[in-house]
Amino acid sequence: MSSLIWCDDYSVNIRSIDNEHKLLMEMVKELDSALETQGHVLLQLVSAALKQLSHAIRMHFDSEERFLLLNNYPDSVNHQKEHNALLMKLDDFIGNFSSEQLVFTEQMSLYIKDWFVRHIILHDRKFGNFFRDKELATPYGMN
Ligand SMILES: [Fe+2]
Ligand SMILES: [Fe+2]
Repeated sequence: MSSLIWCDDYSVNIRSIDNEHKLLMEMVKELDSALETQGHVLLQLVSAALKQLSHAIRMHFDSEERFLLLNNYPDSVNHQKEHNALLMKLDDFIGNFSSEQLVFTEQMSLYIKDWFVRHIILHDRKFGNFFRDKELATPYGMN
């Protein structure tokens, strides 16, 4: 399965956010590795990787949204809507997870990768550019 590999094009120029994005990409890789596991542990590993990823995504979105609000980012509401759309997909998927849906899990992994690349490039980099050379009211992770 093709992996999501960090490159400088994904940078939002805020190091702690870049680091969280890198970590999430690693976790997507772990989900892919779990999907390639053979034998009876497969379902447990996939389920655990998916739950961990979903939790980490939620934490990241929370921090990012607080950061945008505290710094009066004008497009905060739309940004939050984008995040919520992915969270709904993840909740749906985790809720329906069962052995018959492993194929769907692979599709989900592809969906998450596409979503990340699109979201980081179109939306996260947009606020990165907006805040470039501006004094931040609250630094990322300091709220
Ligand atoms: Fe975002
Ligand atoms: Fe982000």
